[in-house]
Amino acid sequence: MIAMRVLGALAFLTACAREATPAPAPAAPSPADALDQMDTRTAVPLLPMMANHQKQNMRDHLLAVQEIVAAVAADDFAAIEKAAGRIGYSQQMAQMCTHMGAGAPGFTEQALTFHRTADGIAAAARERNRGRVLVELGATLQTCTGCHAAWKQRVVDDPTWQRLTASAPPDPTGHH
Ligand code: HEC
Repeated sequence: MIAMRVLGALAFLTACAREATPAPAPAAPSPADALDQMDTRTAVPLLPMMANHQKQNMRDHLLAVQEIVAAVAADDFAAIEKAAGRIGYSQQMAQMCTHMGAGAPGFTEQALTFHRTADGIAAAARERNRGRVLVELGATLQTCTGCHAAWKQRVVDDPTWQRLTASAPPDPTGHH
């Protein structure tokens, strides 16, 4: 009986001893790093608040597209124009896109092209031209998918943001 206990304790101890000296595990990337390595798109560095803001804007862009499609189905040109206005070009929109793209050369240009293209939807709605609304909507969606194919968000801390944007070109809208 005692012998068995001793044996049991020994087995337990050796198991512990084995666990205490595990073979060095290969350095696995964190899940976030693993994803980042798979996603080969160019990174747009953003501070956490900007990244959140960008995603909020994006979800509203999709909502605007949803409203445009529903308004086209209802032949409601005023509603098409109103929804398209949310994704159209404005000085304020341009400033925001310039800020978002400050650490990613080329991003802002694509963003501004998107908003200018979306202006075509509102213009077609003012002409009450249903076919042209759809053509312009298609062209706009192409700017959405083109940008998504090229860029991914990268959330960075303040020192990194400062470093990456130190050499940013001046705001093309003339604002800061
Ligand atoms: C200039 C670039 C650009 C354009 C144009 C653009 N997006 Fe995005 N969008 C992004 C980026 C960058 C992300 C983040 C992608 C990532 O990190 O995976 C994003 C993410 C999104 C998301 C996900 C939001 C979330 O909550 O995660 C939606 C939805 C979206 N975009 C919709 C649209 C729609 C609809 C349009 C056009 C009407 C559009 N976007 C145009 C750059 C763009």
